[in-house]
Amino acid sequence: MALFGGRTRAGNPDIFAILDVGSSKVVCFIGREEPGVGVRILGAGYHASAGLRAGAVIDMEAAENTIRHAVEKAERAAGLAISSVIVNVSTRSIRSRHIHVDTKFSSAEVADRDLQRVIDTALSEFNEPDQAILHAFPLNWAVDEERGIRDPRGMFGQKLGVDMHFVTAGVGVLRNLAHCIERCHLRIAGMVASPYAAGIGVLVEDEFDLGVTLIDMGAGITTAAVFRDRTLAFVDGVGVGGQNVTSDIARGLTTPFEAAERIKTIYGSALDSPDDDGQMVPCPPMGAQDELHHEPLTLLTSIVRSRIEETFEILRDRFKAAGIEEFAGRRIVLTGGAAQLSGVAQLAEYTFKKRVRVGRPHGLLGLPDTMAGPDFAVASGLIKQVFQDKREAISGPPDLSGARSRTRRYAGGGFSKSLKWFRENF
Ligand SMILES: Nc1ncnc2c1ncn2[C@@H]1O[C@H](COP(=O)(O)OP(=O)(O)OP(=O)(O)O)[C@@H](O)[C@H]1O
Ligand SMILES: [Mg+2]
Repeated sequence: MALFGGRTRAGNPDIFAILDVGSSKVVCFIGREEPGVGVRILGAGYHASAGLRAGAVIDMEAAENTIRHAVEKAERAAGLAISSVIVNVSTRSIRSRHIHVDTKFSSAEVADRDLQRVIDTALSEFNEPDQAILHAFPLNWAVDEERGIRDPRGMFGQKLGVDMHFVTAGVGVLRNLAHCIERCHLRIAGMVASPYAAGIGVLVEDEFDLGVTLIDMGAGITTAAVFRDRTLAFVDGVGVGGQNVTSDIARGLTTPFEAAERIKTIYGSALDSPDDDGQMVPCPPMGAQDELHHEPLTLLTSIVRSRIEETFEILRDRFKAAGIEEFAGRRIVLTGGAAQLSGVAQLAEYTFKKRVRVGRPHGLLGLPDTMAGPDFAVASGLIKQVFQDKREAISGPPDLSGARSRTRRYAGGGFSKSLKWFRENF
């Protein structure tokens, strides 16, 4: 098997691999850009998760085995071996920070170096030792009192400002994830927030333009991303997902977890219908002493509904508290396995008072049919984003080495991250 790494690998600079490390499954895609055509999946594989919950490693050995299996399947399908991956981040600690900075500029008109200085000032002002920066997006530039400028270069004034959006996650959980992946002999080429990736995987141009909220409903965590003016403006995560719905069913209907999972996919719905009255759901027994029993379908629906509704309400309240309601767009797109539950889109419409659709990956060539559902949105977005123009001020994997060196690196002479951004974006 040939060995391919990241962009730097001579001979095959266009082959990339990604990992979606989920609570219920780990996905590996290996892809290549076909210029003028799109991104082609060369190999894809997934494996049921063990040792992972809500983006965190809870059992190092089990998580390592899961990742190895998923990678092996993708490598076999692609007929090549990988040496590095871009991985998703979907921990409970994921959050947004908005920082505004102003600087004076000396030259007559705004030049690249002025933008760079403002960005580096914002990076140096970020000072949270336990959080690592995953993404940094300039949302708005301001020249003197004029705000909302997309590209200030060439403009005249005295003061240059920027609203920076930082997406961060807990250093500890990222270190464990990185360690687990490195144990699989893979180098980490980048870390990408899951709901951001899911957005890239499923959203269409109009949605990026008009503003949209993406909600990825996984097994262990539900994450959200707000896109505005084609830029990631906000992310959040609630440590609740499809597994919680299943546990609620198991408890409420007194049936084993595996049976509850089956009941959820066959009979489960977040909304009741008039036909439900009088219908009964067969519930397998908890142990050898028990017998199969039947419970009302209306009970199942109310269990499912209350958990999903509660999750949506938490997110709605967080959006409101963060003040992003007014620019979060009129549309919501749901992804993740739990978005396949019947009635979730309607329940989201009802809770958020917005138009809602379930998003599926698009724009990938050779994506197997079995991996074309909303539960593969994150994996699809991870591979698509490699080949996209991003508006990020930094690139490469996050610095997990600790606050001091991080601050030094961004604020001091090391402008490499933002410089790379300029080279790639302008
Ligand atoms: N048809 C379906 N109906 C209802 N729920 C479903 C269906 N298919 C999958 N799910 C649920 O979706 C969840 C898995 O979703 P997904 O694959 O997106 O999670 P994950 O990425 O592994 O986990 P996470 O992102 O939370 O770490 C499970 O809880 C599963 O029960
Ligand atoms: Mg997921």
